[in-house]
Amino acid sequence: MQSENPMPIPMLRPRRLRTSVTMRSLVRETILRPADFIAPLFVRHGNGIRQPIKSMPGQFQLSIDQAVIEARDLAARGIPAVILFGIPEHKDACGSENYSPDGIIPSAIRAIKAACPDLLVITDMCFCEYTDHGHCGIINVPGDKHHIPALPHGYLLNDPTLELLAKASVVHADAGADIIAPSGMIDGMIAAIRTALDAGGHSHISVMSYAAKYASGFYGPFRDAAESTPTFGDRHQYQMDPGNKREAMKEVAIDVAEGADILMVKPAMPYLDIIHQIRAAYDHPVAAYQVSGEFAMIHAAAANGWVDLERCALESLTCIKRAGADMILTYFAKDATDWISK
Ligand code: PBG
Repeated sequence: MQSENPMPIPMLRPRRLRTSVTMRSLVRETILRPADFIAPLFVRHGNGIRQPIKSMPGQFQLSIDQAVIEARDLAARGIPAVILFGIPEHKDACGSENYSPDGIIPSAIRAIKAACPDLLVITDMCFCEYTDHGHCGIINVPGDKHHIPALPHGYLLNDPTLELLAKASVVHADAGADIIAPSGMIDGMIAAIRTALDAGGHSHISVMSYAAKYASGFYGPFRDAAESTPTFGDRHQYQMDPGNKREAMKEVAIDVAEGADILMVKPAMPYLDIIHQIRAAYDHPVAAYQVSGEFAMIHAAAANGWVDLERCALESLTCIKRAGADMILTYFAKDATDWISK
C-alpha cells in the first residue's frame, strides 16, 4: 500500500562520486606531494650525534655530519627544502653565534649545500636559540649601551635587534643559504634584512617571512628541541595574540610592502582561517608551519592508541594545504612522503 507522504527520492546524489577508491581519487581536490614539504632540522656542534628529542618522536638534534646524511635522505625522497635551527656552543646577551661565520648554522649550510646542491636551505633567522636570556633579540637592561630608561627592564628592543638580524642574514647568505626566514616578529625585519642582503651582493636570495606568527602554547616541544625557552617572561610582546585576525592582515601587508617573497602563517592547524584569508588576499606563495606541539599531539594520541598516526598526520597536512598553503613546514615531511608514495 502506498503511504500518503512517500519519502522524496533524492534527485541529487553526491555519493555517486564516492563509490570506489578510483572514483574518489578521480575527484579529489587536494593532493599532497613530497614537493609540498619543508623539513625542519636541529643542528648542534659535535660529531656523530643523533640525540633524540623526547617530545618529538623521530626528531633529533644532529651534529653536522648527521644533518648531511639526513639532508641527502630528504633530497632523495623529493623533498625540496630544509629549514635549519641551530643550537650554539655558547649563548650570550646578543646571540653572537648567530652571526659568526663559523657558527653552527653557517657551518651546517656549507656542509649541506656541498653535499646536496639542489636542496634548498632555509635558515630560521631569530636570536632566541643564541641568547642567554632566550628572547628573540636584544633586551632592555640598565647599564647596557642600548638601554632605554622609558622602557621596562626586559623589553625586547626593536631597532637594535634589526641590526643584528641584518648582519646574521648576510652571514647565512654568504655561507650559501637560499632563503632567509625571519621568525621574531620584530617590526621592520623584512626591510632590514632585504636591504642588507641587497647591499651584501645577495639580491637573488629570498626572504620567507614568518608574517603572522602567534604567541602559541603549541611551541612547547620546540623550545626543548632548540633549547630556547625564555629565562624570564614570555613572547607576548612581539608575537601575536591568538584572538586576532585583522592584525594578521596588517602584519602581512607590512611584510609585503617591505619585500617579503613568501608569507608564512604559524602555527598551522589552529590558524586555518588565517591561511585561507591570506591566500585569498595575496598572490604571494603562502607557507604554513605545522609546529612542534601539533606534531607532538598527533604522536601522543597515536601512541596511546587513540588515533591512527598515518591517517591523522596526512589528514592534518591535507587540510592545511586545502586551506591555502602552497608549502608546509612539518616534522612529518619524511614520513608523509613515504606514506603518500606507498
Ligand atoms: C623562533 C622559532 C620558534 C619556532 C620556530 N622558530 C619558537 C618560538 O617562537 O618560541 C617554533 C617551531 C615549532 O614549535 O615547531 N626561533
